Amino acid sequence: MQKSNFSRRRFLGGATGIAAGVFAAPNLLLRGQNGAGKRLNLAVIGANGKGQSDTQAVTLDHNIVALVDVDSDRLGEAEKKREKYCQDSKVDPGKAPKMYSDFRKMFDEMANEIDGVIVSTPDHTHYLAAMWAIKHGKHVCVQKPLCNYIQEVRNLHAAAKEAGVVTQMGNQGRTMEGQRLAKEWIEQGAIGDLQEIRLWTNRPIWPQGPFNKKQVECPPNLNWDLWLSSEKEEPYFEMDIPEGVKLWKGSKSLHPFSWRGWWPYGSGALGDMGCHIMDASFSILGQLIPEKIEAVSSPISETCAPNWSRLVYHMPAGKHKALKVTWHDGKLEDDTPNKPERPEMMNSEGAMKAWDKASSGMAFIGSDGVVFEGEAYCSSPVIYPEDKYTETRIAMKDGKIVKTEARSPMPNNPQGEWAHCIVNGGKPSSNFDYSCPLTEFVLLGNLAVRAQQEVVWDKASAKVTNAEAPNQYVARPAYRDGWLPA
Ligand SMILES: NC(=O)c1ccc[n+]([C@@H]2O[C@H](COP(=O)([O-])OP(=O)(O)OC[C@H]3O[C@@H](n4cnc5c(N)ncnc54)[C@H](O)[C@@H]3O)[C@@H](O)[C@H]2O)c1
Repeated sequence: MQKSNFSRRRFLGGATGIAAGVFAAPNLLLRGQNGAGKRLNLAVIGANGKGQSDTQAVTLDHNIVALVDVDSDRLGEAEKKREKYCQDSKVDPGKAPKMYSDFRKMFDEMANEIDGVIVSTPDHTHYLAAMWAIKHGKHVCVQKPLCNYIQEVRNLHAAAKEAGVVTQMGNQGRTMEGQRLAKEWIEQGAIGDLQEIRLWTNRPIWPQGPFNKKQVECPPNLNWDLWLSSEKEEPYFEMDIPEGVKLWKGSKSLHPFSWRGWWPYGSGALGDMGCHIMDASFSILGQLIPEKIEAVSSPISETCAPNWSRLVYHMPAGKHKALKVTWHDGKLEDDTPNKPERPEMMNSEGAMKAWDKASSGMAFIGSDGVVFEGEAYCSSPVIYPEDKYTETRIAMKDGKIVKTEARSPMPNNPQGEWAHCIVNGGKPSSNFDYSCPLTEFVLLGNLAVRAQQEVVWDKASAKVTNAEAPNQYVARPAYRDGWLPA
């Protein structure tokens, strides 16, 4: 491991006119409270896209010693952005990280210089990159969903436990106060008995549906073979998309971003948003796994996810009585949002406005009121009818509703929180004991969508018990040689 090295910092003069040799104040929003000021040596796999902001989340407190990306243009750009971010923050960017296109080579060459690894690749490579890191004894912070197959989630969980590394999933809502407030209100009776949960999102906002493949020339900057990673080798292709389908940034290629709608690489709208939007429900219901999932959707194929889906998760009794969690995503054929019905208790003008505005969200429906959140992370929940919300706030002020959930030291920064826990101890909010079952919860919906039928899930055996065919979607069918760590 490289020694942490403050002395290598150099002063970056800037418009603020801070005197040479003096370091600017830290960005309090992002910087941790690293007791002894220990700087970790971190690597980021999937350095551009979300990997860019994941890098920024730790870059002021820690050393980025390696960046990995299969697209040479995006890799170069990621490093430029890292340097600029440090400069804009008046922090020394330090030694340039080593740059790789293949994360396996990075582990072979410099594993002993790395403390922890952030994985922010497309979903299908999360498992591989995280397993390589764990097998090398590295702490891991992996983007959501942790994997796109349930069996991989379970393997990852077991491997991380065995290695004893510090783990985190990148679902930022789990680090925020809002989700904790919603849980405290509901548990302490603010909306009476919890009866039903409705969840929705307008995703996919990328092209999704059963598309054919069209072989075209691979861009010279992309190493397609490494992008495929353990998926079967095939010539570069883009989506053969009919006229009129909205593209993501005008592109028909899967890379970057639009891989989301392809089962081998992504996990559809549900996999993309579920670990955010289902997170508060999973926590509030006591981290339970559903017993049965019903699904209807627009057409799918063996390789492509649907344009819209509707799911019913049947939850067993636990902290609350047995209830249904429903999920709606996408747009229907007539171009209207596939959104659930507004709860009856949200009938004031303000409530109706908030409901109509929410392109993603969640509604926890109780016997006496609704906890509502009009975005994906449950950052700022409110209660309807409005007088119930007023009552709840007064109860909080009077100490009749109390804080029972531990707050994160770094809200809205799961990568920073993870690094903070590596240095100072403690468990990240979305450590794998929490986020592996959450991801399983989410992926069970995809299992039902892919099977196009109701599935009854036996958690103990990780099997669908009411039919055999859906079990083919529990584990990835195959891995190319050389991708699973020894
Ligand atoms: N927490 C959040 O709010 C949030 C937001 C966006 C994306 N995400 C997650 O982040 C991940 C990345 O999403 P994105 O939108 O940035 O995708 P993207 O395709 O835009 O970016 C992924 C990057 O990884 C690189 N890459 C691909 N395969 C690689 C490999 N084998 N090794 C190294 N690099 C590789 C690509 O070149 C690209 O630069 C996904 O899992 C996504 O679900 C999370």
